[in-house]
Amino acid sequence: MFSTTLLTFLGAIATLAVATPMKRTVSNGAAINKNFADPGLMLNSNGVWYAYSTTSSSGLVPMSNSTNFKTWTKPTNVLTSVGAWATGAVWDPDVREISSGHYVMYYAARRNGGPSNDHCLGVATATHPNGPFTPKSTPLMCDLASGGLIGITGFKAPDGRLYVVWKVDGNSIKGKTPIKIQRVGANGYDLQGTATTLITNDASSSVDGGLVEAPSLVHWNGWYYLFYSTHNYNTLKYDIRYAVSRSVRGPFSKVGSFLTSGDFSTAGPGSTTVLNIQDKYVNMAFHSDINGKNSSGAGRAMWTISNICLSGGVAKPTC
Ligand SMILES: *[C@@H]1O[C@H](CO)[C@@H](O)[C@H](O)[C@H]1NC(C)=O
Ligand SMILES: *[C@@H]1O[C@H](CO)[C@@H](O)[C@H](O)[C@H]1NC(C)=O
Repeated sequence: MFSTTLLTFLGAIATLAVATPMKRTVSNGAAINKNFADPGLMLNSNGVWYAYSTTSSSGLVPMSNSTNFKTWTKPTNVLTSVGAWATGAVWDPDVREISSGHYVMYYAARRNGGPSNDHCLGVATATHPNGPFTPKSTPLMCDLASGGLIGITGFKAPDGRLYVVWKVDGNSIKGKTPIKIQRVGANGYDLQGTATTLITNDASSSVDGGLVEAPSLVHWNGWYYLFYSTHNYNTLKYDIRYAVSRSVRGPFSKVGSFLTSGDFSTAGPGSTTVLNIQDKYVNMAFHSDINGKNSSGAGRAMWTISNICLSGGVAKPTC
């Protein structure tokens, strides 16, 4: 009885704390100053922030958490295995609290027995954001004919409907890289209906280096903002751009750049996750090269921006 009351009280404090718009801040240097690429970001209902990264020496899916969005714990592994269907590393994990005590991790990995570009999208579940996450034995989706699939993230629309958004990895076969969306059921992973293309790479490779990838969709005040990266991740041309729509399935219009190398001393910033926190503010995490050069050596550190500026279909890191 006492502990239930105490938990309710602590929960109320946590809710109050997260509902207060945060000070607009770009992490001074890296928020996690070690290799922590393609960060997936989540704010749990207990008011704690969680971030998850692509496989590194810290684990198959390293997780770090923070109570203040400034100081983050040492990353530790939270995924038990890549899944019976897959082999090797995990890319671009994204975790969502689908319902109380039900967490879904979306990720990409290479299918067993296939060629090296046979990346499929997978799902793992856990009862706590610290894991352990247990992978499903079969992939959510594969599409080798189109070049493989990668870069999956979750999205909850204002009407409560759940979606997944991902990249067709067509640049692996010199093809197109459409970013697609599809609805999922209440468990966060049963596919429903059909997929819709939101954007794809430009006809001219001088515009985006022949690819758009790492989508993250966020809704703010009547607009859907689709953040994505362009160019090869291993170059200083990697960046964060965005497209907007008034409707979740588009059509989306590409607006332009959000963050490029040199902004705030970043190098090859990209692969962002952008989150609307109870319609009070929008925070983001992304990676940038540790040495301020490109991702050829030391790896990609996690950076954050709290309370980014979104207004009338225009997005800016600070304003
Ligand atoms: C944060 O992560 C550490 C493991 O790295 C874990 O021990 C701790 O319980 C986590 N904190 C919360 C609030 O989940
Ligand atoms: C990355 O940086 C290294 C060292 O600065 C350089 O030699 C290499 O060419 C760069 N790679 C790319 C893809 O830009």
